[in-house]
Amino acid sequence: MHNATPHRQAYGVTPKSSDARRWWRDAVIYQVYVRSFLDSTGDGVGDLAGVRAGLPYLKKLGVDGVWLSPFYPSPQHDHGYDVADYLDVDPVFGDLAEFDQLTAAAHRIGVKVLLDIVPNHCSSEHPYFQEALAAGPGSPARSRFHFADGRGPDGSEPPNNWHAMFGGPAWSRVTEPDGSLGQWYLHMFTPEQPDWNWRDAGVTDYFDRVLRFWLDRGVDGFRIDVAAGLFKHPELPDSPDPQADARTRDSVNPLAWNQPEVHDVWRRWRTLCEEYTARDGRERLLVGEVSVPTAREHALYVRPDELHQAFFFDLLGAPWDADAFRKVISEAMQDIAGTGSTVTWVLNNHDQVRTVTRYGEPAPEGSGLGTARARAAALLMLALPGAAYIYQGEELGLPEVVDLPDDVLTDPIFRRTGSRARIRDGCRVPLPWSGQASPFGFTSEVEGAKLPWLPQPEWFAQYATDRALADTSSFWHLYRDGLQLRATLPQLGEGTLRWLEAPPGVLAFSRGDGLVCAVNFGPAPVAAPVPGTPLLASVTCPPGVLPGSTAAWWITDHPHV
Ligand code: NOJ
Repeated sequence: MHNATPHRQAYGVTPKSSDARRWWRDAVIYQVYVRSFLDSTGDGVGDLAGVRAGLPYLKKLGVDGVWLSPFYPSPQHDHGYDVADYLDVDPVFGDLAEFDQLTAAAHRIGVKVLLDIVPNHCSSEHPYFQEALAAGPGSPARSRFHFADGRGPDGSEPPNNWHAMFGGPAWSRVTEPDGSLGQWYLHMFTPEQPDWNWRDAGVTDYFDRVLRFWLDRGVDGFRIDVAAGLFKHPELPDSPDPQADARTRDSVNPLAWNQPEVHDVWRRWRTLCEEYTARDGRERLLVGEVSVPTAREHALYVRPDELHQAFFFDLLGAPWDADAFRKVISEAMQDIAGTGSTVTWVLNNHDQVRTVTRYGEPAPEGSGLGTARARAAALLMLALPGAAYIYQGEELGLPEVVDLPDDVLTDPIFRRTGSRARIRDGCRVPLPWSGQASPFGFTSEVEGAKLPWLPQPEWFAQYATDRALADTSSFWHLYRDGLQLRATLPQLGEGTLRWLEAPPGVLAFSRGDGLVCAVNFGPAPVAAPVPGTPLLASVTCPPGVLPGSTAAWWITDHPHV
């Protein structure tokens, strides 16, 4: 290996031919958390016009599409994951005309648009839930949700012992139309998010209409929230271990999750999407947020007639350790790629502590170990076979904001548990675009402009996009170069990987025809596992050496690759 700099080395690059119809199989999608991306109106909250203004930036980065976090009318108890109307845009974010303009603008530059659909629960302000409250026990309107009588002589105990994911019991009691204390309804997240009852055919039909509404407006697919959760055990029995169900935010109550009937919904949605594909040959993507215990169960969701993809969170959950990474990558390749789908890799999203911080950096400067590891992890992810999702700010190497004061926190987890440990505000702070002080170009400078909805720390200045673009050693350039190589090198994207021999603490694999990716998880430099011509590295590498906390890609003609 020669001197590998973080910059890309020339390697006969011509765009590779790809199957446009199956564009999603190795797509790189950028997750836009709309309220924190770019604010075009000066109200301190990002919006759809802001996303449209940011499209050239995303095109330059080289992503294939965007996933927009929920922008539907919502009381925002869980930042839009409490949907009051699935067929409109919340005025905070714009309107349908703005949505259409955004979609058209994205398509003009070849960027796909994915919506976030929330089928497990809605907002307690959704008209169907309001109708259910008014209609009373036993009504067809109540059957769209999980209403049940309480236990105990006066029904004052919840119908079962389930916990909500965000703290507290999973049931709340309602006041009946006649003013008496009445039934209970199920909510696996917060009381403001009642769970739909997918055993009611009206719910199935309703969501068919929702999908068609947006597909008719030209969207390229959907990210599906809580995709393993739609069906609950039909008897709603007590959980044998409710404490275990409540222990972590992502833990799974097996009675409320991963029920076999959920697969029928995904078959139905796949068929519906394929109707649209039959018209124009363009596949509409269904990518599920599927949190299930094993890669094998995960694989069931991406069978050929179900979801196209499901986020594989085990990579995100793995500690910075070569063996841990190798185990989750091998399992995914074996269990998921075997379905005919591709693995959907993800390192960051709007619910998780950002990699720079997670991999070892509580300090805000962003120049130490966590940054080095996050850069290496990025190159690793982009070299893996399949699709990848990048969460906004990841391409800037943004650390988590860990010291937001209590009085600005908005995550319902904080309100419902009092715990700061699991809160998600720190990865949702509005992006820095330019300048030396907040709002760092996030908010348009109109008269009377409000502050960003979460305070941006002063140190955000060093991560602003304009600086990142101007500095060829930045995180942004690493992602951009990696994406360019993915778009051009036939070895990257879909396909297989083969593990290569490497010293302890180092992972090395080939991606066919001489392309090698190696990651040194340890602190000390090691000899490069095979010689070759460097393509891209997460730090400058001396000849033949892979420094600690570094990843590199290179081309080799070594006979063992
Ligand atoms: C998963 C989403 O990513 C998260 O932000 C949300 O709070 C829950 N689902 C509930 O909708």
